[in-house]
Amino acid sequence: MALVEVEDLRVSYENPVLLGVSFEVEEGETAVLFGLNGAGKTTTVQTIAGLLKPDAGKIRLGGTDIAGRPPSKLVPMGVALVPEGRRVFPALSVANNLRLGAWVRRANGSEVDERRELVFEYFPRLSERVDQAAGTLSGGEQQMLAIGRALMSKPKLLLIDEASLGLSPALAKTVFQVVKRINDDGVTVIIVEQNVGVLPYADRVLIMEKGTLIFSGVGDEIQDANLRESYLGKAEE
Ligand SMILES: Nc1ncnc2c1ncn2[C@@H]1O[C@H](COP(=O)(O)OP(=O)(O)O)[C@@H](O)[C@H]1O
Ligand SMILES: [Mg+2]
Repeated sequence: MALVEVEDLRVSYENPVLLGVSFEVEEGETAVLFGLNGAGKTTTVQTIAGLLKPDAGKIRLGGTDIAGRPPSKLVPMGVALVPEGRRVFPALSVANNLRLGAWVRRANGSEVDERRELVFEYFPRLSERVDQAAGTLSGGEQQMLAIGRALMSKPKLLLIDEASLGLSPALAKTVFQVVKRINDDGVTVIIVEQNVGVLPYADRVLIMEKGTLIFSGVGDEIQDANLRESYLGKAEE
């Protein structure tokens, strides 16, 4: 069953940017959204997360049309976004950054502790730095914290925008492996990437170009050499 159905989605800033995007992601899948800079990937995930209002089109979550609903409504429904640029609160400790992620969901104390333990299982490094100010963490640790914070709201749909940007190949791989574990634990994932290193972890590949979706494929279709060359760019060594 499709958890997410996007149908003819149109979004503008001053000018139209998404020109009618349609795709589906099945419950339990990890979908990777590829495309060059400016293709509309961030606009797509921000609209699904409720940060941007569409001009037209539908976004269904488990069959319910959620298009235009604000994050304050969507987070409790299980939609969480890890924004581009791993925005953590630099002056706050790791613990408080995580607590804020749960606050939106109005979780009680024991729920918060439970979620936090789960985040530390995924990212043991964070538990060693629990009282440290987030701004003093390495880039990779801040990305882990940004994902951890999103997990605190107990998402069923996790949207991750450019997880590997600026990370070493080894750290990028670590992040992809944890995203895979999160997915195995039942969370549906849409991850925006420009690094083909994510491909082994993807069930579905979506490719955008200039505000439209030009490819949606699963399994072997993903390995098509032309697609790789034309749209996915070069894998980072
Ligand atoms: N806040 C904004 N105001 C105006 N135009 C924007 C804004 N954000 C993005 N755009 C434009 O929308 C297009 C798609 O951007 P974006 O969704 O960020 O693409 P991607 O994430 O694939 O790089 C680009 O042409 C970009 O310049
Ligand atoms: Mg982007």
